[in-house]
Amino acid sequence: MSLVIRDIPIEPRLILAPMEGVTDVVFRRLVRRIGGCGLTVTEFIAAEALRRNVKKILQMAEFDADESPLSIQIYGRNPEAMAEGAKMVQDLGADIVDLNMGCPSKKVCAHSGGSALMKEPELAKEIVRAMRGAVDIPFTVKMRSGWDHDNKNAPEIAYMCQEEGAEMVAVHWRTRTDQYGGVRELDTIRQVVDTLSIPVVANGDIIDAASALDTLERTGCAGLMIGRGAIRNPWVFREIEAALKGEPALSVEFGDRKDVLLGYLADIRDRFHSERGTLGRFKKISGYFTKGVPFGSELRQGIFHSQEIEQAIDVVETFFDTLDDRLEPRHRAHLRSA
Ligand SMILES: Cc1cc2nc3c(=O)[nH]c(=O)nc-3n(C[C@H](O)[C@H](O)[C@H](O)COP(=O)(O)O)c2cc1C
Repeated sequence: MSLVIRDIPIEPRLILAPMEGVTDVVFRRLVRRIGGCGLTVTEFIAAEALRRNVKKILQMAEFDADESPLSIQIYGRNPEAMAEGAKMVQDLGADIVDLNMGCPSKKVCAHSGGSALMKEPELAKEIVRAMRGAVDIPFTVKMRSGWDHDNKNAPEIAYMCQEEGAEMVAVHWRTRTDQYGGVRELDTIRQVVDTLSIPVVANGDIIDAASALDTLERTGCAGLMIGRGAIRNPWVFREIEAALKGEPALSVEFGDRKDVLLGYLADIRDRFHSERGTLGRFKKISGYFTKGVPFGSELRQGIFHSQEIEQAIDVVETFFDTLDDRLEPRHRAHLRSA
């Protein structure tokens, strides 16, 4: 099966999930350099702020000249502002505009944006219609399976989106009340797939080839969207791509991890300029990135307690340069499947 959003082939059919404070242009560049990801999505952007040309918000919409296909995600509750925001996304040169109907954050839901829209189907419909009418580029929607377990209305909401002109929907199996917990339940995504004729992308806890293949099989979805698994292991796309093609598993060396981590630090330093902003972002990403690395908690602690960028660089270099001597065979076996 392939994933095509109108006339845009998503190849491989793996998408980097939008993540606030993570999937900025620098992180997306890291993922694109490693490869295996067919579509990148920005972190969510408030449509109201976008139309007011707030500088910080415009930075969130920045992308590299060679970053294509790229989707920019917006959120909000005002149909008019959402239409204007969508138009701005198109004018900025994005290939796709995405509506956030999945965010559980209080900040977003308080303004009836994000997953709160799933509780207000009429408003959701107005927003979808307004955005669709405002742009010519493909328009997609990302949602949860519902607001809570008594209201798993993703099949109805997704159908409405399709009828109003959406060209792909991505569904995270959790409801809003699950937040980031809950018990994995893929039947609702399967129902969305069975109901719609546009492509449906499944999301939630896809972290490796096994979980990817399982999700594809159980939902019949056209593509997969990966969030936290990509921060922890940015090679996950290549690993899944290999599995989809029936190729051997990928081998990632520790030296690769070190280079990617330090390359990322250099890139965010360029972007943030300030020591504080750079260190803050680096600590956040490396908290995920070092999970699954043998003795990773030592590395996390070292980075976490760094007061300066140079100190963090030193911690990373020393850790990886001395790691080989500490490794036992079981670590190496783990590494091959990382
Ligand atoms: C730090 C973080 C920030 C997120 N920000 C967004 C966002 O801006 N827009 C959105 O639609 N979802 C957002 N999400 C949800 C993810 O896109 C995704 O649906 C969720 O993490 C489940 O996928 P995963 O299990 O692969 O991480 C965020 C998730 C995380 C962990």
